[in-house]
Amino acid sequence: MTITAESTVRDIVLETPTAISVLERFGIDYCCGGGHTLAEACSKRDQSLAPVLNELKLQQNQSNPQGDWRGAPLQDLVSHIVHTHHAFARTQLGLIHELATKVERRHGSTHPEVHKIGNVLAGISAELTHHFSCEEEVLFPYIEQLNGSQAQRGPSVFSSAELPIARMMKDHGQTGDELRGLREITNDYQPPSDACTTYRALYRAMEDLERDLHQHIHLENNILFPRALELEKKYT
Ligand SMILES: [Fe+2]
Ligand SMILES: [Fe+2]
Repeated sequence: MTITAESTVRDIVLETPTAISVLERFGIDYCCGGGHTLAEACSKRDQSLAPVLNELKLQQNQSNPQGDWRGAPLQDLVSHIVHTHHAFARTQLGLIHELATKVERRHGSTHPEVHKIGNVLAGISAELTHHFSCEEEVLFPYIEQLNGSQAQRGPSVFSSAELPIARMMKDHGQTGDELRGLREITNDYQPPSDACTTYRALYRAMEDLERDLHQHIHLENNILFPRALELEKKYT
């Protein structure tokens, strides 16, 4: 595939997963907003198209450390999401909570924005905990046994994955909005000049969580869910 201004961001990332690092650097949404063309996505960020396009073309010739999940067994993809991305987010949310509590206690009076950050983080943490449970306990087990006929699969809690997948994607959209909100409050994760080491570590940890969530949501929205729906159609 030749990457052009009219390629959708989703297709670019599916074809060239190493493009993720370029898109992250330019702040271009490739998970929930993957349906936009590259030109549209750049214009949403007030970013000129040419440098993004040039870097993406360079990436096309590089090796692929992310792996290509488009043809992998769905069970392997589910296992990767749970053991890599859900596990990372859980650990990272615990670390972020500890750091945010310390920063709020020590610097809340001089930097009131840390209280706002603490509130948004508490909301994201509660939502993600619930979201991961829904995926791991209900949706993913259903997807993992989609390779057989309805009779082979046995009874399920739902007749089709369409509705639960739509709900998960709505959650992803909300998480994306909240992450963008955190970027605004933290001035793109630039700590204030008087920030202590803990304050800087908090911003770094939040940015690492954001980057991982983008990759995680991309794998679900753009690969796992469409493949599961296609498979479901084939066997029903
Ligand atoms: Fe997930
Ligand atoms: Fe999800």
